[in-house]
Amino acid sequence: MNKSYVLRAGRMTGAQKRSYEEYSGKWLVPFVPGKALDAEAVFAGRGPLCVEIGFGMGTATAVLAAQNPGINYLGIEVHRPGIGRLLWEIETRGLSNIRVIEGDAVDVLSSMSFKADSFHIFFPDPWPKKRHHKRRLVQGPFAALLAQKLKKGGCLYMVTDWEDYARQALAALGAAEGLENRYDGFAPAQSWRPRTKFEQKGIEKNHRVWELMFERG
Ligand SMILES: C[S@@+](CC[C@H](N)C(=O)[O-])C[C@H]1O[C@@H](n2cnc3c(N)ncnc32)[C@H](O)[C@@H]1O
Repeated sequence: MNKSYVLRAGRMTGAQKRSYEEYSGKWLVPFVPGKALDAEAVFAGRGPLCVEIGFGMGTATAVLAAQNPGINYLGIEVHRPGIGRLLWEIETRGLSNIRVIEGDAVDVLSSMSFKADSFHIFFPDPWPKKRHHKRRLVQGPFAALLAQKLKKGGCLYMVTDWEDYARQALAALGAAEGLENRYDGFAPAQSWRPRTKFEQKGIEKNHRVWELMFERG
């Protein structure tokens, strides 16, 4: 599968670097291919597991975790500055229900065994140019992987502000075995979802948002 991201070096602020160095030992879960993810041990407590893929700066993650202390949030991200930023949020807000895996979600989902109660994918990289569409994360093979990792009755919630990606993802998720669209087409806007940093930039350019919600049957 083509990589859905490009890692750019040298863009970390001093604060992000300090947070990463100081707090990653506390909140980062090592990505060990082939190892089972024991969510109860990792979070030191029970609770539904929500896995967020590509949390960016983690603004929505931190808000949701603060609002829902009974839910355990696992964020998967490749972008180290964003990880540093979310670690800072965890510490300053005193959150105990977020853990982070630094790695490619495709590798993490394919090689660590776990089941999630829900997945959040907020504004995955749109790769707008046609020749780059193959890099988009949410398509056939990854949709199948998400279906496998979701518990029965679990929910997959994706939002994007690129219409053709939204339609492509709707088709891919609709074709994944075990996933059922909760709505007839796109989902209504979920008022509980905090606005993300990427979303804010799109709103400033008058982008609209498409929401997709699927359930594991
Ligand atoms: C467009 S940004 C959106 C970030 C955030 N969700 C928001 O709405 O502000 C997409 C994010 O997904 C991350 N990403 C892309 N592919 C990924 C992958 N395969 N595994 C983990 N993170 C990924 C990128 O590093 C980036 O931070």
